[in-house]
Amino acid sequence: MCGIVGYVGNEQAAPLLLEGLSKLEYRGYDSAGVAVYDPSTGLSVHKAKGRLAVLDKMLDGGRSVPGRVGVGHTRWATHGAPSDVNSHPQISRSGRIAVVHNGIIENYAELKDFLQGQGVPFTSETDTEVVAQLVEYFCEHDGVDILEAVGRCLRRIEGAYALGILCADAPDQIIAVRKDSPLILGYGDGCSFLASDVTALIRHTRRVGYMDDGEVAVLTKDGIQCYNHLMQPVEKEISYVDWEIDAAEKGGYEHFMFKEIMEQPQAIRRAVGPRIRDGEVFFEDFALSDDYLRQVKKIYIVACGSSYHVGMVGKYNLERILRVPVEVALASEFRYMDPIVDGATLVIVISQSGETLDTMAALREAKRLGAKILSLVNVVGSSIARESDQVLYTWAGPEIAVATTKGYSTQLVVLDLFGLHMARVLGTIDAETCRAILEEMLRLPEKMEAVLENKDAIQYYASQYFNHNSVFFIGRNVDYAMGLEGSLKLKEISYIHSEAYASGELKHGTISLIEEGTLVVALGTYARLFDKAMSNIVEVKARGGDVLALTTEDHGQEMAKVANGVVTIPNTHPMLLPSLGVVPLQLFAYYVALMRGCDIDKPRNLAKSVTVE
Ligand code: F6R
Repeated sequence: MCGIVGYVGNEQAAPLLLEGLSKLEYRGYDSAGVAVYDPSTGLSVHKAKGRLAVLDKMLDGGRSVPGRVGVGHTRWATHGAPSDVNSHPQISRSGRIAVVHNGIIENYAELKDFLQGQGVPFTSETDTEVVAQLVEYFCEHDGVDILEAVGRCLRRIEGAYALGILCADAPDQIIAVRKDSPLILGYGDGCSFLASDVTALIRHTRRVGYMDDGEVAVLTKDGIQCYNHLMQPVEKEISYVDWEIDAAEKGGYEHFMFKEIMEQPQAIRRAVGPRIRDGEVFFEDFALSDDYLRQVKKIYIVACGSSYHVGMVGKYNLERILRVPVEVALASEFRYMDPIVDGATLVIVISQSGETLDTMAALREAKRLGAKILSLVNVVGSSIARESDQVLYTWAGPEIAVATTKGYSTQLVVLDLFGLHMARVLGTIDAETCRAILEEMLRLPEKMEAVLENKDAIQYYASQYFNHNSVFFIGRNVDYAMGLEGSLKLKEISYIHSEAYASGELKHGTISLIEEGTLVVALGTYARLFDKAMSNIVEVKARGGDVLALTTEDHGQEMAKVANGVVTIPNTHPMLLPSLGVVPLQLFAYYVALMRGCDIDKPRNLAKSVTVE
C-alpha cells in the first residue's frame, strides 16, 4: 500500500524518482507525486491524481523539475479520496517541509485538533498532513532543528508508518522513518536512496539496508546515518541484493502476470532443487529442532488472500502426512478470535510480500501466546521474515503483478517440503514414500511446462466464457482448496462475480443459483474422489449449467463424457496436484481478463502489499 522513494546525490532527482515510482506502482496507483529541492526554485511539489503516467507527462519525465534531492510517492488512498490535494507529498503550512507516507497515523484526528487549536490551517483530508504540520510546529514552537523535530513528532504519532521527509532548511538530506511499514535504504556511490521495495533501487545500487522498526535514518549524498528509537546512532548492516535486474522487468511480455505465470517452472526449480538431498528434505540452518517439532500438538496456518489458500491446501496435505491437527486462519481474524495457541502450537505464517499488516499482527499475537513462528516468505529481509523464529524463503524472485501466481505456487511447494521434513521427524512417513514424493516434486517444473504449452486450449475456453457475469468453482479436498484460488484469480482481475464451493455443499444452497448457461468450473484432479466429482458435474448439467472441467490425463476422456469442456494436467502425486492444477486456472483468469479489456497487472482498488488493516 503506497510506495515511497527518495534520492539525494549529484544527479537530477526527479527522473530518478519517477523511475523508482514506476517500479512501485503495484503498491498503489490512484495518484502520485514528488517533492524536489533546488537552490534556485526552493522546495517544489508536483502531484497528480491518476496513474503515474499522468505525473510523468506533466513533468516531462522529470526533466522540467531541477534539483538533486527529492522524495516521491505513489498512493493507495486511505484517508481522503484520490485527488490532487490528497496526493503525497503533503506539505507543511509554510511549504518548507514535504512528507511522503506509507501506512496510517491512527491518532491523526486528535493531533489535527491540537494543531488547528494552535492556528495551523489544513488543506487535505489526509492523516499524513498532520506529520508535515507537526514537524513544522516543533521546529517553530520549540526552536529545534528538523531531526529533533522529527524525533518529537514520532513521540506523538501512533500507527504504522514509513516516512520520507524533505525540509527546505536542511536541503542536503532526507529523513526516513520506519514503524511497521517497509523501508529500505540504498547505498550508492556519491548518492543515497530510499524505497519501499528493492525493485525501485536495484538499477542504481545493490547495497541495501533494511530499516528496523522505530529507526530513523538521515540520508545525504555522502552516506546514511541511522538512529534507534532513542535517537542514538546505530550501525546498519548492509546486505547485497543478487536479483537479476530483468526479473523485475516485463522482458517482452505484455503483462507481468503472464510473465510470472510462465516463470513458474523455473521458480519451482529454485525453491525445491537445493532443498532435496539424497531423497530427504534438506533445510540449511533450520532453527526448529527435531525435539521441538516432536512436541508440537497443533499447527496453525495464518495468512491472507492467496497465501491463505495455500494454507487451505496445506491443511489437507499436512494433516494427511503428519496426523497432527492443522487449523487455517485468516490473518485478519486471527488476533480477534482468541485463538487457542500455546508453546505446543507451531504457527506457520505465509506471505509473499512479508509485509501484510494483518499477517504481521497475527504473527505477533501468536508469539505473545508462546508459539514458535515458521514463515514462508518471498521478499528477503521483509518484516515477517525478520520477526519469525525460522523463515523458509520461497525464492520466487520479484513478483510485480498484483495478482499472485509464482508467489502462490512456490509457497505451495515449500509448505509441502516442510510437511515432508516434519513427517520424517515424527516418523509418520517412511523414507521410501518420502523419496518418491520428492522425486515427483523434482519433476513438477517439467510437468508445469507441459501445462503451459497447452495454453491455447485455455485461451479458447476463455473466449467461450469471457462474457459470463457469474462463475462457480467446485471441487472436493485439494480440488476445493485449489478452486478457492482459481475463483479469486478470476474475480480480482476480470471483475466477474465468482465463488468457490466444496462440491458437497452445492446441494445445501448454492445449486439454486445454477440456471441455463451458468458457468461452473469443476475441479476433479483428485483421483480418490473422481467419481464424486463426476456426479456433481452431472447434477450441474441437469440444471442447465455449462461445465468446464479440470482433471488429470488419466481421467480426461471419462470427464469429457459429461463436461462441456475439459482441460487436463499430467498425473502426479495427490499432494502435488494443486501445484499443477492452479496453472490452467491462472491462465483462464488471465485470458478472460484480457478479453474483457481489464487492467491485468493493476486491478481496480487493489494493491500488492497490504500494509493497512
Ligand atoms: C491475490 C493476492 C492477495 C495476496 C494477499 C496476501 O492474487 O495476491 O490475495 O495473496 O494480499 O499477500 P501476502 O502473501 O504478500 O501476505
